Amino acid sequence: MSNIFVIGGAGKVARRFIGQASERGHSVRALHRHPEQAADLAALGGVPVSGSLTELSVSGLADLMKGSDVALFSAGAGGRGGPETTAAIDGRGLELAVDAAKEAGINRFLLVSVFPDALRDEPHSEGFENYIRVKKQADVYLAESGLDWVILRPGTLSKEPGTGKVRLGPAVPYGVVPRDDVATTLVHIVSQPQIRREIIELTEGSIPVEEAVAGLVR
Ligand SMILES: NC(=O)c1ccc[n+]([C@@H]2O[C@H](COP(=O)([O-])OP(=O)(O)OC[C@H]3O[C@@H](n4cnc5c(N)ncnc54)[C@H](OP(=O)(O)O)[C@@H]3O)[C@@H](O)[C@H]2O)c1
Repeated sequence: MSNIFVIGGAGKVARRFIGQASERGHSVRALHRHPEQAADLAALGGVPVSGSLTELSVSGLADLMKGSDVALFSAGAGGRGGPETTAAIDGRGLELAVDAAKEAGINRFLLVSVFPDALRDEPHSEGFENYIRVKKQADVYLAESGLDWVILRPGTLSKEPGTGKVRLGPAVPYGVVPRDDVATTLVHIVSQPQIRREIIELTEGSIPVEEAVAGLVR
């Protein structure tokens, strides 16, 4: 069983992940910003850890992360606060977390990223374009970190109940995916440490998650 540190622990994907990972016997600590989130995270089976990516130093975050063996970054500004906030959370926040993981001796690092070709068929704002650029730069930072990284690129997230079935691989057509199934996929990836230094795209699909993830093991 793994000891997992989740950054962005109060997020919608992260909460689902914490519940599912705890049920499977993993230990999960969840970084969150607001005191009122702590009780919910504990009820899901996680251990709440208070802190903000915009206030912590690398050493400060590393101190919080020490003792974990997997880091999961699922934080994001969600378009709130404009391009500077996106750069601070999705961009520099990821870099901070990668540097802190190294300092804390955590080698395995999972990142919830995005399809670079998301929503290509629709008109989109400069804010969205900036988000896609920042996410790609974050992917590059992690991929060049020397850690045992996995970059998961889900399609557009939905709050529909999970089906337990997905389509995933190094390149799949862009689509949508329930957050439940993103969380399930992450839980199965945690359990397959042979999956490393891979970019995995994920949408809804027809293959049971466990089978789809097992299919990625070389
Ligand atoms: N929406 C989509 O369709 C889509 C598609 C593909 C990928 N993604 C990516 O998937 C990831 C997870 O999505 P989600 O729906 O779970 O997002 P979410 O619910 O908005 O969760 C993001 C979390 O990041 C946290 N965060 C923001 N600023 C922070 C800071 N300064 N310090 C620490 N934590 C901070 C937020 O904290 P608070 O709870 O305090 O606000 C929130 O809990 C995001 O990175 C997103 O970019 C989204």
